Amino acid sequence: MKQSDHNEIPFLIGVLGGTITTEDTDRIKTEDSSTTPFGEPSAALQNLDIGQTNVAFMARHGLPHAIAPHDINYRANLWTLYEASVSAIIAMYAVGAIANDLAIGDIVIPDQIIDYTWGREGSFNAKLGLNHFDFSEPFNPVVRQHLVSSAKESGHSVHTTATYGCTQGPRLETSAEIERLKRDGCDLVGMTAMPEAALARELNIPFGGICLIVNAAAGRGDGPIRHQEISLAIARNSANLLDIVGRAARELGDLLR
Ligand code: HPA
Repeated sequence: MKQSDHNEIPFLIGVLGGTITTEDTDRIKTEDSSTTPFGEPSAALQNLDIGQTNVAFMARHGLPHAIAPHDINYRANLWTLYEASVSAIIAMYAVGAIANDLAIGDIVIPDQIIDYTWGREGSFNAKLGLNHFDFSEPFNPVVRQHLVSSAKESGHSVHTTATYGCTQGPRLETSAEIERLKRDGCDLVGMTAMPEAALARELNIPFGGICLIVNAAAGRGDGPIRHQEISLAIARNSANLLDIVGRAARELGDLLR
């Protein structure tokens, strides 16, 4: 991933990234972010090339990576992408595996979410008016379909459905919490898909997620979760993930242009 030199090209697809892209994005020259009616976004939107595809990239944990999941200003981040007129958003997530068939390094396109977070500003109601919108399918089917086909085209095996359990963080879960998530039907666990997905729906921006499994969730591996194993999983697999995201962004950009 590199900073784009063709600044004149309008942003088409927005990409939200966090832990996975941090090492690359931390080297990016940052500009001052512009404020929103909801406060400051995590960072200024970056005009980046992922593979051959120019995207509007939002670093949800800030540049450098310092904002914890519960402290992210999700509304400002989504509003910034909305103001940039992105036609769709692809959100990348590093997650822990709960389901038995998921292993470190696997790529998963989730189709459902259970939200365990609390106290996060999860709606634009104050600005857009009260709206009890349908959220039965939290991820847009067209974005999902392009993420799945891009993964297959680039030769990566991909899990095409999964329920994402979104926890509050910043601490990892207890083993009992993960057992409960498993009973609830969660296949993987992360900390940032909510309220991102719901805010994108309020703004009518097609939104899809792509997850990289970076550890076995609490109590499901050989011992405590180690940051070293997470960093290693990211280092080994982020190029694959970005390749898929770049392809999907290109296809979606052509489709939605
Ligand atoms: N739990 C919550 N969030 C995560 C995990 C996890 O095990 N791994 C990466 N993000």
